[in-house]
Amino acid sequence: MLLCPCFNQEKFTMMMMRAAVGLWVLSAVICVGRGHHHLGHDDDQTVQDTVGDGSANSVSLVNEANKEFSFRLYRQLAADADSQGKNIFFSPASVSAALAALSVGAQGETHRQLFSGLGFNSSLLTQTDVDQAFQTLLQRANNTSQMDASEGTAVFVDDDFKPKPEFLQTLKQSYFADGFNVDFNKSTESADTINKYVKEKTNGKIDKLVEGLDQSTVMYLISYIYYKGKWETPFDPKLTKEDDFNVDENTKVPAIMMNMDDVLQTHHDHKLNTTVLQLPFTSSYSMLLMLPDVMATLENAISPNHVTKWLKAMRFRTTDVYIPKFSIKTSYNLNDVLSEMGMTDMFGDRANLRGISEEQRLKVSDVVHKATLDVDEAGAEAAAATGIIINTSAFLGPVPVLKFNRPFMVIITEHNTEKILFLGKIINPTI
Ligand SMILES: *[C@@H]1O[C@H](CO)[C@@H](O)[C@H](O)[C@H]1NC(C)=O
Ligand SMILES: *[C@@H]1O[C@H](CO)[C@@H](O)[C@H](O)[C@H]1NC(C)=O
Ligand SMILES: *[C@@H]1O[C@H](CO)[C@@H](O)[C@H](O)[C@H]1NC(C)=O
Ligand SMILES: *[C@@H]1O[C@H](CO)[C@@H](O)[C@H](O)[C@H]1NC(C)=O
Ligand SMILES: *[C@@H]1O[C@H](CO)[C@@H](O)[C@H](O)[C@H]1NC(C)=O
Ligand SMILES: *[C@@H]1O[C@H](CO)[C@@H](O)[C@H](O)[C@H]1NC(C)=O
Repeated sequence: MLLCPCFNQEKFTMMMMRAAVGLWVLSAVICVGRGHHHLGHDDDQTVQDTVGDGSANSVSLVNEANKEFSFRLYRQLAADADSQGKNIFFSPASVSAALAALSVGAQGETHRQLFSGLGFNSSLLTQTDVDQAFQTLLQRANNTSQMDASEGTAVFVDDDFKPKPEFLQTLKQSYFADGFNVDFNKSTESADTINKYVKEKTNGKIDKLVEGLDQSTVMYLISYIYYKGKWETPFDPKLTKEDDFNVDENTKVPAIMMNMDDVLQTHHDHKLNTTVLQLPFTSSYSMLLMLPDVMATLENAISPNHVTKWLKAMRFRTTDVYIPKFSIKTSYNLNDVLSEMGMTDMFGDRANLRGISEEQRLKVSDVVHKATLDVDEAGAEAAAATGIIINTSAFLGPVPVLKFNRPFMVIITEHNTEKILFLGKIINPTI
């Protein structure tokens, strides 16, 4: 593997915490291939790059747009025929970072579609504003998380392909991209190189992002995110027992259920008939678990405002909570989903990626995404660490029981920014 001359490989320190608790990982990829030559369209107006200042305003506009994008992408994925009867789990943060990095090299209608698909209002934000906002957000994620989270991007460039230096420079500076030269003619070797990189960045969780490569590939753009946290209050493994999980009215599957009877933060949203449980990690991150009466009611309505409202409305209550212990993997090709969200041109002959190269006609051949989610008690160590079994003697009457033994939704968020790192729906923890 050669280091691209215009890059320094940045080393993200990846902390391996001991076999702990919740473990999230994710990665998104955009595969850029040579597009077919095509009669010129009037889509080559250049991007207006006025100098942004990475102001608080741009950062908050981009952060808000990313949150809205999370749920629009979720709904599009959930509605997709391929998602029926399956768990959904992905990182909106990773998808938006990858698409924003791609938009650095997009122009004309392709750029307009990416901006609008990502929810960036082009009368308020330039590409430079977006780049600087991502720079701030990625730095902030790196700062606040320290040991348990890492996020980043990388670009793999074919030996024979020379992208514009400005494109690579922006990726390196604002998206902290690692850059590599590879020989895509040797498709197995280059796929291995990329897979090895992603595997390392995701602590072994995503080991085969690239399934196969076409010789027409000239560039591979990656964004990854990894999170690992210990519950502030771990589950006692002694209380973990097999129990039924109700996939639907007629289907039960045996699941391993963890249990905790403790003072926990919950909220019931009456409008959505949904009970929300907040399980904090020993950091500024939390998992939100949402158990609706009717999944469709929650899925169709959920928005960033709900998350903000829930986090404010959380109250400590003694609750007897049951959550499945599970490990899931998901894999998506996002081409159709993103096209349905209006980002169509980048996939076809109308693609305008002239910010990457003027000489070659480029297009996006695939956007793929894989994610894994493992939830467990924390093992012996975590169980010992907390010892929280706080027993509120003031409590009178029966302790409410909250059993996540039917389909629920899950979010991993950071408190200060309410950034949605991961989002999903667990309909069957055993598949
Ligand atoms: C973009 O921002 C302008 C100025 O605030 C506003 O008038 C317009 O409605 C916004 N467009 C969208 C799509 O939100
Ligand atoms: C993240 O932090 C590490 C260690 O402090 C540093 O080496 C790296 O450059 C940082 N990355 C970003 C994106 O800020
Ligand atoms: C990250 O931390 C460094 C050093 O602690 C600080 O100078 C910088 O402003 C922080 N960046 C963000 C975006 O919080
Ligand atoms: C890859 O293959 C093409 C055509 O088959 C050839 O022109 C090019 O030189 C090859 N690139 C490398 C780095 O071997
Ligand atoms: C919430 O639940 C109540 C009682 O189960 C039901 O009458 C009502 O229609 C539900 N509302 C929604 C929005 O699903
Ligand atoms: C308090 O702890 C005792 C012993 O573990 C248990 O029997 C009792 O049910 C607990 N009370 C409450 C209110 O949780």
